[in-house]
Amino acid sequence: MDFLTMMETRKSCRAYQDKPVSREDLIKLVEVGRLTPSGCNSQPWKFIIVDEPEAKEKLCDALVCTDGLTGAPWRDQVPAFIILVEQEAKVKQAVLTHYHDSQRFAQGDIGAACMNMCHMAMELGLSTCILGMNDQKKMEAHFGIPSGHEARLVLAVGYGVDTNPNAVKVRKPIEEVLSFNQW
Ligand SMILES: Cc1cc2nc3c(=O)[nH]c(=O)nc-3n(C[C@H](O)[C@H](O)[C@H](O)COP(=O)(O)O)c2cc1C
Repeated sequence: MDFLTMMETRKSCRAYQDKPVSREDLIKLVEVGRLTPSGCNSQPWKFIIVDEPEAKEKLCDALVCTDGLTGAPWRDQVPAFIILVEQEAKVKQAVLTHYHDSQRFAQGDIGAACMNMCHMAMELGLSTCILGMNDQKKMEAHFGIPSGHEARLVLAVGYGVDTNPNAVKVRKPIEEVLSFNQW
């Protein structure tokens, strides 16, 4: 499949078959995450594969915030997850002096890594859904994540069930988001 077709057909998956994902495939996803470019090549990430029942139970708990809010009411059926944790970015001194913020590029870096993982998953016949919401305190307690290291994204991974094969991609038209040479 060419890349544009891949972009046009990829969609977030919120229903999964009861079929495990091999460790080999999960590690391949992390491999493309690891190879992703990052600001100052700082690689401000750590990937935690969650594929064992007890750990998945803990993650399902951490995907619910203390006020009950969750982005994944369907989380119980997901065969595997990958947590993308933000690490301190060792950026170049000049960048730090300019922005006074070592994490200036980190969220973008993690987003890029996660997207590459989604596309790798497609090549492997897997479906994914990026999850942006979680309870940081639960993440720290359940997975030993050091305090202050934000679990920025969680990637749900599995063999999908296409509940809406005729779904049309909802995107702003190109005229609305593109301009040439000025705003
Ligand atoms: C940073 C980020 C956070 C997201 N969080 C959630 C989420 O919590 N729950 C969910 O079902 N989808 C989540 N999504 C998926 C988006 O809703 C989805 O990508 C968007 O609606 C476009 O649909 P598509 O991925 O099918 O093209 C998230 C996506 C991103 C990039």
